[in-house]
Amino acid sequence: MRLIFLGPPGAGKGTQARVLEERFGAKHVSTGDILRANRTAGTPLGREAEGYMARGELVPDTVIIGMIEHELETCAAGFIMDGFPRTLAQAEAFDALLARRGWDLDAAVLFVADRATLIARLSARWTNPRNGRTYNALSNPPRVAGIDDDDGGPLVQRDDDRAETVATRLAEYEAKTEPLVEYYRRRGQLIAVDGLLAVQDVTRALLGALGLEATSS
Ligand code: AP5
Repeated sequence: MRLIFLGPPGAGKGTQARVLEERFGAKHVSTGDILRANRTAGTPLGREAEGYMARGELVPDTVIIGMIEHELETCAAGFIMDGFPRTLAQAEAFDALLARRGWDLDAAVLFVADRATLIARLSARWTNPRNGRTYNALSNPPRVAGIDDDDGGPLVQRDDDRAETVATRLAEYEAKTEPLVEYYRRRGQLIAVDGLLAVQDVTRALLGALGLEATSS
């Protein structure tokens, strides 16, 4: 399984990538999670990225491409790219990295959702910073508010989920990432999934579109 997940902030890319990773063993590669882990650890990469992330802007392509080149070393069992590529330069660099390994992409999946839903979801998102698991106060709350169901530790809200930063993230998406929809459509690799459905229904639609219904139990 070699997939790219495309879509605006809050469309459900991370939620669905975690489901597929658990079911199929392909590695969930979230560039946002890798950057946040580096920021928390105070690495040079994290320090370089933090200003861009706090403003809701994209981190420079060279930083991201180097990071993905490194990640691909751990993706022999397949991958689900969550939040990468996000610019044309990243998509072209990714093509070259895959070609060098003789790897084909199965599909680029676009999760479609309207702006009002995205904003509502992000303002209600709670995350376990230890493993990236997300909850939603509206649609998928934890059993105890602010506490992870599994490890019992505290959940946090992402600082880039504040309304003004979300507006910048959406604008970045429209200007720099949306053109990739056409890029993959022209190559016959684009699959669009309705991201407004309930989480399990999005999973069902995704597996159906990928021709994986039989293994979806
Ligand atoms: P990143 O962490 O990738 O954020 P994002 O793309 O903005 O995506 P999100 O994580 O906000 O949303 P999602 O689609 O994964 O939704 P989720 O499943 O969590 O990037 C953060 C920053 O890092 C960027 O701004 C940039 O600075 C930098 N960066 C990262 N990658 C980069 C790159 N390639 N190039 C340059 N810079 C980069 O769901 C959202 C909420 O909705 C959750 O609460 C969830 O529980 C809920 N939910 C999910 N699905 C449903 C559903 N079907 N119904 C109801 N609720 C749902």
